[in-house]
Amino acid sequence: MCGIVGYVGNKQAAPFLLEGLSKLEYRGYDSAGVAVMTDEGIVVKKKKGRLAGLSEMIDGGNAIRGTMGIGHTRWATHGEPSDTNSHPHLSNSGRFAVVHNGIIENYLRLRDYLTKKGFEFISETDTEVIAHLFEYYYKGDIIDAMIKVINKVEGSYALGVLCADDPDSFIAVRKESPLIVGLGEGENFIASDIPAILSHTKNVYFLENNEIVILKKNQVKIINTDREEISKEVYVVDWDVSAAEKGGYEHFMFKEIMEQPRAIADTVSPRIKDGRIVLDDIMLTADYIRNINKVYIVACGSAYHVGVVGKYVIEQMNRIPVEVMVASEFRYCSPIIDEHTLVVLISQSGETADTIEAMREAKRLGSRTFAIVNAVGSTIAREADDVLYTWAGPEIAVATTKAYSTQLTAIYMLSLYFAQELDTISPELLRKYINALNALPDKIAGIVENKADIQYIASQYYSAKSVFFIGRTFDYAVALEGSLKLKEISYIHSEAYAAGELKHGTIALMEEGTVVVALCTVKKLFDKMLSNIKEVKARGAVVIAIAEEGHTEIEKEADHVIYVPKCDDLTMPSEVVVPLQLFSYYVASLKGLDIDKPRNLAKSVTVE
Ligand code: G6P
Repeated sequence: MCGIVGYVGNKQAAPFLLEGLSKLEYRGYDSAGVAVMTDEGIVVKKKKGRLAGLSEMIDGGNAIRGTMGIGHTRWATHGEPSDTNSHPHLSNSGRFAVVHNGIIENYLRLRDYLTKKGFEFISETDTEVIAHLFEYYYKGDIIDAMIKVINKVEGSYALGVLCADDPDSFIAVRKESPLIVGLGEGENFIASDIPAILSHTKNVYFLENNEIVILKKNQVKIINTDREEISKEVYVVDWDVSAAEKGGYEHFMFKEIMEQPRAIADTVSPRIKDGRIVLDDIMLTADYIRNINKVYIVACGSAYHVGVVGKYVIEQMNRIPVEVMVASEFRYCSPIIDEHTLVVLISQSGETADTIEAMREAKRLGSRTFAIVNAVGSTIAREADDVLYTWAGPEIAVATTKAYSTQLTAIYMLSLYFAQELDTISPELLRKYINALNALPDKIAGIVENKADIQYIASQYYSAKSVFFIGRTFDYAVALEGSLKLKEISYIHSEAYAAGELKHGTIALMEEGTVVVALCTVKKLFDKMLSNIKEVKARGAVVIAIAEEGHTEIEKEADHVIYVPKCDDLTMPSEVVVPLQLFSYYVASLKGLDIDKPRNLAKSVTVE
C-alpha cells in the first residue's frame, strides 16, 4: 500500500523520484506526487491517476530543478483518489512536505486539535495532520519536531519529510510500515522497497520501528527517539537489476509465471542434502515437533490458499491437526493456541498488516511462530521465531504466481521435515517425495511450453460472465487460487467450490454456457469428479478439465482437457496451478486489461 521514495545527492531529484516510483507502482496507483527542494523553496506536484500522468505534467521531472526530494504513489485509504488527497502534503506555511504510508488512527482527534490551533485542512487524508503537526512543533530543530510528532500520532507510518529551512538534508522514520535506506556514493535514498533504488545501489539498511534517519548526500545518520545514534549492518541485496525488470516480456505476471521452474529449484535445491531435508537456521527439534498439538496456518490472499494446501499435506503426512485461517480473522477469533501450537505465517512481502498482527497475537499467546517469507529483512522475517525463505526473487505483478508456487514447495518441505525428524516416514517414501520435489521445475517448464493450448481455450471464454472452479481436497485448495487469479486480473465473477458441495445450493447458478473449470487430478477422487462434471454439464455448463496425463476417459465428459504430467498427489498442486495462472493471464490479456496493476488492488497490503 503506497510507495515512498526519497533522494538527496548531486543529480536532479525529480527524474530520479519518477523512476523510483515507477518501480513501486505495484504498491498503489491511484495517484502520485513529488516534492522537490528548489531555489524557490519546496515545490510540490501531484496528480490523480497513474504515474504517467504526473510524469507528463512535469516533463519527466525536467520541469522541477533541485537535487533533493520525496515522492509517493498512493493506494487510497482516507479520501478518494484526487489531486488534493495525493501526497506529498504541505503544512499551511509550505515549510514542510510529507509523504506517508500507513494509517494514522487518531487523525480525527488530531485534526480537531490542530483546527482549534488555527490550522486549515484542505484534504480528507489522515496524512495532512502530520504536515501540520511538524509545523506546530517545529522550533528550529527538525529532530525535536519529529520526536514530538511520533509521540503524538497513533497507528502505522513510513514518513519522508522535507523542511524548507534545510536545503541539504531530509528526515524519515518508520513504524509498522516498511522503509529502507539506500546508500550511494555522494547520494542517499529512502524507499518502501528495494526495486525502487536497486539500479542505484545494492547497499541498504532496514529501519526498525521508530528509528529516525537524517539523510545528506554524504551522510546517513540513524538515531532513536532518545537521540542516541544507532549503528546498523549494511545489507547487500543479492539480486541484480534484471530480476526486477520486465526483460522483454509484455507483463511482469507472464515473466513471473515463466520464472517458476527456476524459483522452485532455488527454493528446494539448497535444502536437500544427502537425501534429507535440511532447513538451516530452523530451530524446530524433534522433541518440539513431537509435542505439537496443532499447526495453525495464518495468511492472506494467495498465501492463505497455500495454507489450505498445507492443511491437506501436513494432516495426511503427519496426522497433526492443522487449522488454516485468514489473518484478519485470526486476531479477533480468540484462537485456541498455546506453547504446543506452531503458528505458521505465510507472506510474500512479509509486510501484510494483518499477518504481522496475527504473528504478534500468536506470540502473545505463547505459541512458536514459523514464517514462510519471500522478502528478506521484512517485518515478519525479523520477528518470527523461525524463517524459511522462499527464493522467488522480487515479484512485481500484483497477482502472485511464483511466490505462491515457492510457498507451496516450502510447505511440502516443512511437512516432510516433520516426518523426517519424527522418523515417521520410511526412507523410501522420503526419497520418493524428495525426487518429486526435484522433478517439479522440469514438469512445470513442460506445462508452460504448452501455453498455446491454454491461450486457445482462453480465447473461447474470455467474455464469460461467470466462471466456477471445482475440485476435491488438494484440487479444491488449488481451485481457490485459480478463482482468485481470474477475478483479480480479469474482473470476471468467479467462485471456487468443493465439487461435492456444489449441489447444496450453488448448482442453482449453472445454466447454458456457464464456464466450469474442473480440477480432476486427485487419483482416488477422479471418478467422483467425473460425476460432478456430468451434473454441471446436464445443466448446460461448459467444462474445462485439468487432469493427469493418461486419464483420457475425461475427454468423454469435458469440453476441453488440459493435461499435466503424472505426479504424486502431494506435489500435484504445484502443477495444477500453472494452467490456471496462464488461463487467467490470457483471459485478462484478451480483454485488454492492465494485468500487472489490476483495479483497486495493491500488492503489499500494509493496512488492516
Ligand atoms: C495481496 C496480493 C496477493 C497476496 C496477498 C498477501 O492481496 O495481491 O497476491 O497473496 O496480498 O500478501 P503477502 O505479501 O502477505 O503474501
